[in-house]
Amino acid sequence: MRALSLPYILLAIAPATLGAPGPGPRSAQQQQFHLAAQAVSAVSGSQAPLPDPPAQGHVQLLDSDGKHERYDGHQVWRLDWARLSTRVKDNILNAADSLGLDIWRASSTTFDVRVPPLSQSILRSLLPADLVSTYIPDVQALLDSAPVADDPLPGDGGDDDDVWNVTTLASPFHDGYHTLDQVYQFGEALVSHFNIVTSYDIGTTAEGRPIRAWSAKIDEEATPGIPEDGGDAHDENDKFEFIIQANQHAREWVSSSAAMYFLHSLVLDATADSTSHAAQLLRTFTFTVVAVVNPDGFTYSHEHSRLWRKNRQDVGGLLCKADSPGIDLNGNWGHKFVPSRLACSESYSGQTAFEAHETRAMADYLVNGSNPEAGRTLPIKAFIDLHSYGQLFMFPFAYSCADFPPDAENLMEAGLGVAKAMRMTTQGEGYQTGQACDLTYRSAGDAIDYSYAVADVRWSYSAELRDTGTYGFVLPPHLIRPTGEEVSAGLRYLATFIFDTEIDL
Ligand SMILES: *[C@@H]1O[C@H](CO)[C@@H](O)[C@H](O)[C@H]1NC(C)=O
Ligand SMILES: *[C@@H]1O[C@H](CO)[C@@H](O)[C@H](O)[C@H]1NC(C)=O
Repeated sequence: MRALSLPYILLAIAPATLGAPGPGPRSAQQQQFHLAAQAVSAVSGSQAPLPDPPAQGHVQLLDSDGKHERYDGHQVWRLDWARLSTRVKDNILNAADSLGLDIWRASSTTFDVRVPPLSQSILRSLLPADLVSTYIPDVQALLDSAPVADDPLPGDGGDDDDVWNVTTLASPFHDGYHTLDQVYQFGEALVSHFNIVTSYDIGTTAEGRPIRAWSAKIDEEATPGIPEDGGDAHDENDKFEFIIQANQHAREWVSSSAAMYFLHSLVLDATADSTSHAAQLLRTFTFTVVAVVNPDGFTYSHEHSRLWRKNRQDVGGLLCKADSPGIDLNGNWGHKFVPSRLACSESYSGQTAFEAHETRAMADYLVNGSNPEAGRTLPIKAFIDLHSYGQLFMFPFAYSCADFPPDAENLMEAGLGVAKAMRMTTQGEGYQTGQACDLTYRSAGDAIDYSYAVADVRWSYSAELRDTGTYGFVLPPHLIRPTGEEVSAGLRYLATFIFDTEIDL
């Protein structure tokens, strides 16, 4: 077998970022690579010579409109790295991070990474063939096949209800991906059409956009005489909040689509029949959906770089490739936070916890509610953080497997039920359940660790929605509905599970 000197290979991918290796004082990054190289050599048993760097480093191509980043010839490769040790995997991840490579997904067994054309041949020549497979042969071709429904829909005369026809789940909204304005417009259409839905802003981003929440609930007073569980109406003290957030990572579009689909379907079912299961859930839980937690990044992923991940906050200091500020929101939460050194990295988590406006706003909302003066009045039963991709439903902790939550057994049991409910939908896919640290890789400062350990939300889960890598972040629009169905079924199952085990005793 060939030597797996991956850090050297990664060194060759982006020489412009790292600077030419050579004599003289070593930078922190160079030192890190040498350490990584030693670790890999120890495993592979030999030392590969450092290859010549390719002629150019990172090049960003723009569309003819000069706005949209292009990914012509970029491929997504999957490294089957189950046989590598954790230490070596850590080193490879660190190295890839330092170089600003775009890691799509890292689990304990696979590693998906986007490889620009210039780096492909050198990587091919160095990597053992059985370690790598090409998952997406041309990222740009895939993007071209899945256009965004940016155009106003037929009948857009300014009346929100007419545009989206929120009276039916067949609404054209669920057939495509939409800009932030359109997502907000759809949410406001729900508010104006259904009196059980309200909206409010929980904060403002660095670029000044509102972070919007939509809440749905049914007040007993508003629906008198509805028999429930033999007629015992729950009083105000038995009410709880069930919070769903999505799109922390800008490019994970299907997460906000599925969140809105869930809210829409629940509200439609509940209003169509006040004795329905959905109505019963809404009498117990206030369901709050923060569909786009990262509105700046989301907008940037629409208007400039489809594969943008972080927020758009100016983090100052370091010069990276052109125009890449931002904080990886899902590393910036205040439980077991680890500061980042490299602002250029796609997983830059910031210098301090809650440095990002968005994580600060969400944490404030979790702890203090929407009216900080009054403080939080409604206890939170569940917090769900939606991502893509990987088809996973995970409970805390993400930062370490050595820390096992006291509720792990219950979380696992409910999680397995959620996964089954998702699979049992018409076109349901299989979802894996487990502890986040086990199913994903290296995620300190994670949202669910904070919600569980600090905000005291027992039923905290993070979900990676479709798919498992065929399309990755570029999931085709026709798969929005099946994904929305899965999330609807899964979250209704979870709410019912919580109701049965903790509320309706
Ligand atoms: C909205 O959808 C319903 C049900 O499919 C349909 O009957 C109605 O005509 C639609 N309304 C508009 C304005 O398109
Ligand atoms: C909640 O409110 C308290 C008191 O105003 C404040 O100190 C805290 O920063 C707020 N947010 C969180 C996440 O605790």
